[in-house]
Amino acid sequence: MKTYTASQLLDKINAYLEQMPYMRPPKGLYEPIAYELSLGGKRIRPVLMLMAYNIYKEDVERILPQAAGLETYHNHTLLHDDVMDKADMRRNKPTVHNVWNDNTAILSGDAMLILAYRLMAEGLSDRLAEVMHIFTETTMEICEGQQWDMEFESRMDVKVDEYIEMIRLKTSVLLAAALKIGACLAGAPAEEAQKLYDFGVKMGLAFQLQDDWLDVYGDPKVFGKNIGGDILCNKKTYMLITALEQADEDQRKELERWLTATDFIPAEKISAVTALYNNIGVGKRCEEMVEAYYSDGLAVLESIALPEERKQALKDFACSLMNRKV
Ligand code: IPE
Ligand code: IPE
Ligand code: MG
Ligand code: MG
Ligand code: MG
Repeated sequence: MKTYTASQLLDKINAYLEQMPYMRPPKGLYEPIAYELSLGGKRIRPVLMLMAYNIYKEDVERILPQAAGLETYHNHTLLHDDVMDKADMRRNKPTVHNVWNDNTAILSGDAMLILAYRLMAEGLSDRLAEVMHIFTETTMEICEGQQWDMEFESRMDVKVDEYIEMIRLKTSVLLAAALKIGACLAGAPAEEAQKLYDFGVKMGLAFQLQDDWLDVYGDPKVFGKNIGGDILCNKKTYMLITALEQADEDQRKELERWLTATDFIPAEKISAVTALYNNIGVGKRCEEMVEAYYSDGLAVLESIALPEERKQALKDFACSLMNRKV
């Protein structure tokens, strides 16, 4: 059976996304959709879906609508997330609400959610109910995660456990669902599909911790987003929560002063909070957490009773994600 590499799967998903007919009136609705989807991104979720399918079957083209549906859904969340996070740059380009306006990001984002559902259901007969159940549970969980993320901005007592649950909901479940849907469409045994889901959860936790780290320490030209956005929003990341817990009295006072300040120069807040992170040593702690979750994920993958060569592509992909700068 043919096993595809991540880059071969990426080419397939990109070719499929490129031929989608998004240039019809009204332009104000569809242009932002085409814009967002044309900016690339890593396409991790559809690649994971196709890889999980490819463990069992080789006709990956059959599920390209579902893979494109998942990527369209992910891009829908980004349009709304960038409004919620006041983020002006993504994938090295201005965000939709920045090029157009908030109303455009809301409505084009809504349309992408609907398109995602249409693609997800396309051509499915026998597995339709199961796939739509996984997808719908996941999209609800992501709303919950995003709501916790927003509520945590104004709380000072968020615990690490609450943060982990929040990122499981806002980020991990989508990677996990990508794998589970791919496996399910290939007719995988339920227990294996569930283990792939569990592998995706661990990977997703590592992935979001890493995203939070890159938001502070990444190279903006490579990462493609403005650095320090999380600091400006008082996002309760693992680094901020741990800094608050481990700061000495002076550091804690300074951190709290920045968290409650209403009148400040953004660049000054970013550099002051980053300096506190460096002094308290939370960047390093975050990197260790990333590694720990990736190896937990690989251990779950290891425990799936499939021949090694069937799991190799997923393993390689997980390892390449571990060193991401984008
Ligand atoms: C961004 O996801 C949102 C997070 C869950 C951190 P990605 O980092 O996968 O974004 P793209 O699609 O590659 O741009
Ligand atoms: C991503 O969280 C979660 C979702 C978009 C659902 P972030 O807010 O950290 O993602 P980026 O950094 O804007 O990509
Ligand atoms: Mg966000
Ligand atoms: Mg964001
Ligand atoms: Mg982020």
